[in-house]
Amino acid sequence: MKIKCILAFLIISLHVQKVSAQVFNILPYPNKLETTTKGQFDLNTTIEIATTITDPMVTPTIQLLKENLKQYHKISPIGKTKFEIYLDNSITNKEGYTLSIASNKIILKGNNAIGVFYGVQTFLQLAEQFKKTKLIPAVFIEDAPALSYRGLMLDVSRHFFPIDFVKKLVDIMAMQKMNNLHMHLTDDQGWRIEIKKYPKLTKVGGYRNGTIIGKFPGDGNTNQRYGGFYTQAELKDLVKYAATKFINIVPEIEMPGHASAAIAAYPALSTFESEKKVQETWGVFEDVFSPTEYTFNFLQDVLDEVLAIFPSPVIHIGGDECPKEAWKRSVFCQDLMKQKGIKDEHALQSYFIQRIEKYINSKGRQIIGWDEILEGGLAPNAKVMSWRGEAGGIEAAKQHHDVIMTPIDYCYFNFYQSTNPKDSIAWGGFLPLSKVYNYNPMPKGLNELDATYIKGIQANLWTEYVTNVKLAEYMLFPRSIAFAEVAWTKQKPGFDHFVKRLVPYLSQLKANDIHYSTQLFDIKIKSKLNAQKTGFTLQATGVASPAELIYEMSGKPLTIKSPKLIAPLTVSTSATISIGALFENTVVNEVHAEFTINKATTATILNTSTPDPAYNQSGAQGWSNGIIGSSNRFNDGEWLGFNGKPFETVMQFNKTETLQNVQCMLSKKVDDLVVEGFVV
Ligand code: ACM
Repeated sequence: MKIKCILAFLIISLHVQKVSAQVFNILPYPNKLETTTKGQFDLNTTIEIATTITDPMVTPTIQLLKENLKQYHKISPIGKTKFEIYLDNSITNKEGYTLSIASNKIILKGNNAIGVFYGVQTFLQLAEQFKKTKLIPAVFIEDAPALSYRGLMLDVSRHFFPIDFVKKLVDIMAMQKMNNLHMHLTDDQGWRIEIKKYPKLTKVGGYRNGTIIGKFPGDGNTNQRYGGFYTQAELKDLVKYAATKFINIVPEIEMPGHASAAIAAYPALSTFESEKKVQETWGVFEDVFSPTEYTFNFLQDVLDEVLAIFPSPVIHIGGDECPKEAWKRSVFCQDLMKQKGIKDEHALQSYFIQRIEKYINSKGRQIIGWDEILEGGLAPNAKVMSWRGEAGGIEAAKQHHDVIMTPIDYCYFNFYQSTNPKDSIAWGGFLPLSKVYNYNPMPKGLNELDATYIKGIQANLWTEYVTNVKLAEYMLFPRSIAFAEVAWTKQKPGFDHFVKRLVPYLSQLKANDIHYSTQLFDIKIKSKLNAQKTGFTLQATGVASPAELIYEMSGKPLTIKSPKLIAPLTVSTSATISIGALFENTVVNEVHAEFTINKATTATILNTSTPDPAYNQSGAQGWSNGIIGSSNRFNDGEWLGFNGKPFETVMQFNKTETLQNVQCMLSKKVDDLVVEGFVV
């Protein structure tokens, strides 16, 4: 009896293991997915969509489902199989749903219209995955988000993006079950929202007379007028469109800092004596809103129009990076502080934000601001976006204020994502896909109650260097897909699992004309001296399957016809070797290794100073591994860096050699490079 039990258990576990080997390409991954039922749902039959739901919010979702199913087979009023959709209030999470796919029936239940929408999104991803066979394996999914605020921010001030692009972003966000698009509408470099009462905001503030060229501080100025703005009609239409996909648009009207564009249009908003202009370079500017009655009336008027366009329960009021110099020098500000008993300029900022909060609260909305709004005292009902790390978010949660985590190290999509030299110009930092995926939004050090105030996360695309739509897509994708899983999935199945699901999704992005980063296919190369010390073995790794490696040995350009790299290459003469990644018939990435076979090739490195950890990828062997370090990319893994410290290296040759030339490439001029012990 005992043996039988063990056997039965063994058989069951074997069965479960076999079925669960099927990866369902759902992004973000559902919180519960069971494959215990056998069978497959045949998409290639007449399918009847049956629902008892009368809520008009569900109508577009059903329409979307019908439209999509058409590509597989005709929808019929009386089908052979049924797709039943219900509301079910036993599903406790407002965004939750269950989706049961069996051999002859699909049942989708949502807590409300949102859950139904998300269930349909999941189903559509499965239909896409199995579209070749038109057979979806039976599966039961019970799903709800980990976090209620799942956001993305687009800075439309530094560069302006057409409304159609914003709508395209909304489409992809909805597929990823993201639910808040934050639009950074105003800043020093441009005011982007039509305000009818103050037409100069867009007429003057919407345009700058040039933009710095290249990376800050820049290499000249374009001297070209640049700008644009959204009309109220466009924004209202966007809000309506996003609502059909259950995405809220959070508008940001930045104050009291980052206000140059508004001040250029209406100089009375500042008391600072300086040239007024829409800024043409990046950074933080001292000229900020003055806390006068004129400014408060202006902002209230602006907010009246903003509130009429955006039904968002939260209105972002900025609050970050507001220098206090102008207020320190202003007689008006200093008098105001004395009169109101305001102890310093931080408290004056708090006074500013609290007045605005009171106004917004009186209209039935809440304010949200960057974490600087904690300084000088948090406004009573304010929500906080923690960007300078996690500390602001932790502090606000402890004070029982709602928090959206957006720490710079994990959530700033203006950071580089690849070590590939072709990676476009970025703000700085390094935020590869895996780091985004492995972000844990719940900071340590909060007790159970305080942790409930962490309401969500947001990724931000600041656009100083994001000059066009294609570049914006490149910075956003696929990082935002990883981010969506961080926000949605309570226990993420891991980066490798994510990559397996992501790779087929990249084809969908391509089909939707979305330009994405191919960082996933970045190639890492490593060369090793062979045992006979006559040449090198070159190994290439790091490329996610199903991309394939290809190569060319003699400096020839890589093409889709280049030979496949299946085994490590042997290099025994000096040559430039190109290695590429081939994905969907396109060479998506390439590296070029310039090999030099010389007398050092046979030398043994006996001793060498330890390089700085940031520049030690190749180790001591890097001195003579045959690959010349790139002259413009010191992070290519081929350079050893000592950051000003003295270094020494000892190479032993196998036999007496006559050296004509000793070359050591240096990134900086060194005064006392001594080569000892060589016959030069
Ligand atoms: C910010 O990055 N200044 C919020």
